[in-house]
Amino acid sequence: MPKRLLKGGRVVDPVNGRDGVFDVLIEDGRIARVGRDLAADGALVVEIPAGCVVCPGLIDMHVHLREPGQEHKETVATGTAAAVAGGFTAVACMPNTSPVNDNAGVTGYILQKAAEAHLARVYPIGAVSRGQMGEQLADIAELKQAGCVAVTDDGRPVATALLMRRVLEYAGMFGMPVIEHCEEQTLKGDGVAHEGFHASTLGLRGIPGEAESIMALRDISLARLTGGAVHIAHMSARQTLEAVRDGKARGARVTCEVTPHHFVLTDEMLGAPVPYDTNVKMNPPLREAADRDAMRQGLADGSIDAIATDHAPHHYDEKHVEFDHAPFGITGLETAVSLSFDRLVHPGVITLARLVELLSVNPARILRVPGGSLADHTPADITILAPDRAVTVSARTMRSKARNTPFDGWKLRGAVAATIVGGRTVYVNPEMANLRI
Ligand code: DOR
Ligand code: ZN
Repeated sequence: MPKRLLKGGRVVDPVNGRDGVFDVLIEDGRIARVGRDLAADGALVVEIPAGCVVCPGLIDMHVHLREPGQEHKETVATGTAAAVAGGFTAVACMPNTSPVNDNAGVTGYILQKAAEAHLARVYPIGAVSRGQMGEQLADIAELKQAGCVAVTDDGRPVATALLMRRVLEYAGMFGMPVIEHCEEQTLKGDGVAHEGFHASTLGLRGIPGEAESIMALRDISLARLTGGAVHIAHMSARQTLEAVRDGKARGARVTCEVTPHHFVLTDEMLGAPVPYDTNVKMNPPLREAADRDAMRQGLADGSIDAIATDHAPHHYDEKHVEFDHAPFGITGLETAVSLSFDRLVHPGVITLARLVELLSVNPARILRVPGGSLADHTPADITILAPDRAVTVSARTMRSKARNTPFDGWKLRGAVAATIVGGRTVYVNPEMANLRI
């Protein structure tokens, strides 16, 4: 790989206290140096277009890649192609595959597929319980040894308080966080949408915010009891944010993430523009404006640690059914950056440096994986952003195998220009033809 010098971009690297115009020298797949007016010294010079931002590679810590077993929805290859098109140099993938990722064989299979695809880095997340059945603990040591970076029963909560206590203890011994899909199942019942005005009007069974916050309270208490680290996935309800703030204030090892759909949309989408659109059915559900606004506040004030997409691809035929019968979930990898710019950075809710913390620094820290910084000698995982570029979301042209996004046709400001993994350019925005990286 030739030496390359990225010249003239605005480097945003909060860990190293940089926000300004710097050059970045890439050599042997690593960042050799970041500095002002670096000499080319035999390197290929890449002029970063005016207005573009060079930042540590983005990391999506909550993605469903569906392989093995549900390759009609997504594969590791198509999912990682979507990831790099969305600016992500790494993704962590959820274990609710078929079979479940509860053993070294499945973890190894996913890593093999990721190596073959050779696009984004893939960090598998193992199951908490065997088959995600909520009964016996999975072999946490085996999962760690095979390459898992965390454990979760995502898709459902850790079934009992005792199981959660045990897994916090065991995963804690291996330095892994427990990622929790917070859902008190008796309160959730067979609900399909947020319990409130819109669900009532449309005759849909509701899920109250407390279904989420009650489980978060249980888990935060157990994190305090055990000293283990719990990470609250896809937080949607303002009551849960209160629980997280309170837990943090009391010294619990708790972190949390929010998805773009939960800081952009509300349950108003259930009725309009397309009533009963199954592309607004996800778990947890879209909540009320007060919840969405609380999520924005939490992103701004630091109580929320990460933005993660919960990329949940489903086949068209599976979503093209009555609302009650459709599976929960929407895709997210290819819209996260544009939604974050358009709804958070441009309106002044958060700064660009904070966005980089939420999408790169903190996911790396929570999962204890490399990345999150442009420090010298670290792997050259770099995302180049075009904050002012206009984007029209097009489900048809996405890299993901799935099309289940409620954002099709949306006009947003903020795009991904290019994605570099280990010094190798794995994505260039096809609309930026003059960009040669
Ligand atoms: O909407 C969701 N889809 N929420 C989940 O927790 C699981 C996910 C999936 O696997 O489709
Ligand atoms: Zn989940």
